[in-house]
Amino acid sequence: MEKILDIITEKMQQAFADAGYDAAFGRVTVSNRPDLCEYQCNGALSAAKQYKCAPIKIAQAVVEKLNADDYSLVEAVMPGFINLKLSDHFLQAYLEAMRTAEDFGIVKEGTGKTIVVDYGGPNVAKPLHIGHLRSAIIGESLKRLYKFFGYHTIGDIHLGDWGLQMGLIIAELQERQPDLCYFDESYTGEYPAEAPFTISELEEIYPAASAKKKVDEEFAEKAHTATYELQQGRRGYRAIWQHIMKLSVADMTRIYNSLDVHFESWLGESDADPFIPDMIADFKAKGLAVESEGAWVIPVAEETDKKEVPPCILVKSDGSAIYATTDLATMVQRMRDFKPDKILYVTDKRQALHFEQVFRAARKGGIIPENVELEHLGFGTMNGSDGKPFKTRDGGVMRLEQLIGDMTEFVRAKVVENQIVEDSAVDETTAKIALAALKYGDLSNQPTKDYVFDMDRFAAFEGNTGPYILYTIVRVKSILSRFGAWEHLPIQAPANPCAKDLMLAVTKFGPALESALHSSAPNLICAYIYELAGCVNKFYHETPILKEEDETVKAGHIALIGLAKNVLETSISLLGFSAPEKM
Ligand code: ARG
Repeated sequence: MEKILDIITEKMQQAFADAGYDAAFGRVTVSNRPDLCEYQCNGALSAAKQYKCAPIKIAQAVVEKLNADDYSLVEAVMPGFINLKLSDHFLQAYLEAMRTAEDFGIVKEGTGKTIVVDYGGPNVAKPLHIGHLRSAIIGESLKRLYKFFGYHTIGDIHLGDWGLQMGLIIAELQERQPDLCYFDESYTGEYPAEAPFTISELEEIYPAASAKKKVDEEFAEKAHTATYELQQGRRGYRAIWQHIMKLSVADMTRIYNSLDVHFESWLGESDADPFIPDMIADFKAKGLAVESEGAWVIPVAEETDKKEVPPCILVKSDGSAIYATTDLATMVQRMRDFKPDKILYVTDKRQALHFEQVFRAARKGGIIPENVELEHLGFGTMNGSDGKPFKTRDGGVMRLEQLIGDMTEFVRAKVVENQIVEDSAVDETTAKIALAALKYGDLSNQPTKDYVFDMDRFAAFEGNTGPYILYTIVRVKSILSRFGAWEHLPIQAPANPCAKDLMLAVTKFGPALESALHSSAPNLICAYIYELAGCVNKFYHETPILKEEDETVKAGHIALIGLAKNVLETSISLLGFSAPEKM
């Protein structure tokens, strides 16, 4: 559906033309004086200069040409503003069209286009920690938003599954259990189906090996060799790698599921490996890679750079591929397999330079053609109340599972204390509220900014929080269920000023979502639904909905809150959470 602003701008432009002025002056904006009007046009002020006459004269002439049916207020005011309020009829017709259209009439601008969203990015064999939270939450939300706009979306987790960490685990395992068949090079039989370690052992082996590497040179050497041999395809090491992958991926899936975060593609750095040799050869053949102190690098600096952009390292002096190499090779794979129109990376903003280098190298090398968009959304840090990166009480890195668990217990206490639901529904209700608290607490901030994790505030049922939004939805659901079947009821003209405010808020759904999409900013969806929920609650407080005696009027109230509820529910599904039945 066309946005209201566009509809009334077109009408305004026509009115300017009909009054004998250039149509281009007819731009309408949302009013910055909501106490006076809903929309305004300041075009007469600019037109006055060109036509050398008083702006108010132009404004008056234009107002004459507007269709009075569309507005409850249309007036020219000094020195030459045109103030507008939409008519009841206009709003009613617009909302009824939204109600009956698919997805509220949103324009599916992504139809026929594919986007890869690279988010999550965990490393196998390492527990997910809070450093992984924002990528998961923001990436999932943006992916859902793109999908809503008609894009074919592929969320790719891009596992860290190939580097030295793998060699470290293999080397450490060999020291601990040298007799395992995986280390016997003469072994030709099948390897056991079960891993020789559990996930918790694995999570202990990795940090132990990582610490040992720093103090034990011989061990570090072994780990490097093991990494190399794994990448060369040594059978036993491959089998260990498979075990690590299987356990890790199962554990990650469980935790991402609890966050309602899902990936369409579970590829990792290892999957990019086969593309590396040809890609390097190509960069060299095109003369784009140059040798520098034994390494091969791609100079990517540009004249307009304000800060120095160092060359992108393609091959290290010891011949190994590194982070940038993998990201470039992954692009080769994605272009071949997914043919995306856009790739969006959602990582910590400290990786900004890395992506700048990689993007430039990819363009230079022709891996990513001009018409394919690349975007890195670098997000800020989640801080503790001390303003420093969030830590556990003893100063360690907090596991993601622990953070989710803490929030869940905090919410559960409220759910139980306030006897919100029957015992059998406590778990499910708690999980939904906790997820809303966690995700909205994060997403309501501009992604690039740091924010403070505040469990008390995030989980509050009042204020700009996830639970408040859920509460609003649940309240409406309860009214609707007491009313009975309502889905077929048409939207009516606003019954009172609160109804009109609510209707106006509903019409802003499309524009809010478009802005969120175009600026990769789920926080704009949060800001929108906070405003909408406020209008819903105000309407509810000022209007006796179920007590209304006139059945027709009552049906109008119900249709309106039903539509508002649907808009809220759709919006939170784009943020990645959902409402419980009761709250
Ligand atoms: N595994 C990486 C890390 O832990 C993050 C990967 C982000 N995605 C990417 N395509 N580089 O830092």
